[in-house]
Amino acid sequence: MKYDFDQVCDRQNTNCAKWDSVPFIFAPHDVIPMWVADMDFPVAQPIVDALIKRAEHPYYGYTQPGPGLNEAIIDRLERKYNWKIKPEWIVFTPGVVPALNIAIRSLTHPGDEVIIQEPVYYPFFPAVTSSGCQIVNNGLTRIGDGYAMDFEDLERIFQPKMGMVPTPRRIKTLVLCNPHNPVGRLWTREELTHLGEIALRHGIPVISDEIHCEILFKGYRHTPFASISEEFEQNCIVCMAPSKTFNLAGLEASSIIIPNKKLRQAFASARTGILPGPNLFGYTAMEAAYRHGEEWLEQVLDYLQGNLDYLLETFARKIPRVKVIPPQGSYLVWLDFSALGLDDLVLRRFMREKARVGLDDGFLFGKGGSGFQRMNIACPRYILTEALDRIEKAVNEL
Ligand SMILES: Cc1ncc(COP(=O)(O)O)c(C=O)c1O
Repeated sequence: MKYDFDQVCDRQNTNCAKWDSVPFIFAPHDVIPMWVADMDFPVAQPIVDALIKRAEHPYYGYTQPGPGLNEAIIDRLERKYNWKIKPEWIVFTPGVVPALNIAIRSLTHPGDEVIIQEPVYYPFFPAVTSSGCQIVNNGLTRIGDGYAMDFEDLERIFQPKMGMVPTPRRIKTLVLCNPHNPVGRLWTREELTHLGEIALRHGIPVISDEIHCEILFKGYRHTPFASISEEFEQNCIVCMAPSKTFNLAGLEASSIIIPNKKLRQAFASARTGILPGPNLFGYTAMEAAYRHGEEWLEQVLDYLQGNLDYLLETFARKIPRVKVIPPQGSYLVWLDFSALGLDDLVLRRFMREKARVGLDDGFLFGKGGSGFQRMNIACPRYILTEALDRIEKAVNEL
């Protein structure tokens, strides 16, 4: 089946967080929303069919995942990454963000420290602080139009804090983002190996958020952190979901892979009575997506590549003062507006009031985000074209 991703996107008045929040968070009200990470594309037909079929069976009681779903996840991970997992390693949650919160709670006590790599997806901050822990930033380094991890800094972080009396660190985990939101990096096997060895040496498990792992641009491959070695596999919690890949965020269903029994038990006890599993439609959609969504996914990835090529060409040719960090994965593009010399709140107003586009402000992503904006390009080309025209006009009039 051929999908038409150019079709007019009409999500208004559907309680859609991206479009129907415009009057509340953006002014003026004709801002084009390109912030929250979902796609302005209808989902794969087999997912719609599966949901309708399930809805027609009018019993919506407590639900558990069926063996078919486990099988679909196991097959997929083996087929895509040659990563062989066991069914009991799979833990279902209604979203990755709740899972990150529970994972951090399961590994820490209040007062402990958690490493993150800023600029990074902003819900990582409250996931650490609401657990009573402190954020330790192992900031990413900008190199040309890309980013790298700073391993020397990471090693330094584990040294005792110097003072009258050196204080040992209380670092208990590191939250990795791969592909990295917002900088769009897919970490290589070498980089992940380096990071994983440091984590092992210092005895901390890695929480690896891999939610964007199936949105890949041409020439890039994803490496699940856990697939690198058995030692890594036993030292991590991997968060995956069909929500970004198949545009199912509203159905809130994620699979968290925890190979290590002790870590799995700690996660289970931290969630008890707090975090239920996904709802029955989430399970249904997840299985349909993993079993029958591939044709749609291939086409959507082609379309996103076209959007990215168009955006790169437009910024280079018409808006060269704004530098694009070309993403390797995810449909989120990290844009460097710092050459305009606007401070963050002025840049925010400029984007909303002059350009009339609603992107995510870079400073929300923490250190290293100042002067940036994050743009979601998972939309029909006519929307992207209009947004880029607006940005071009506003920047060139500045
Ligand atoms: C890195 C990352 N993790 C998690 C999420 C959200 O996960 P969920 O909606 O499953 O809680 C997002 C959404 O944009 C994300 O970018």
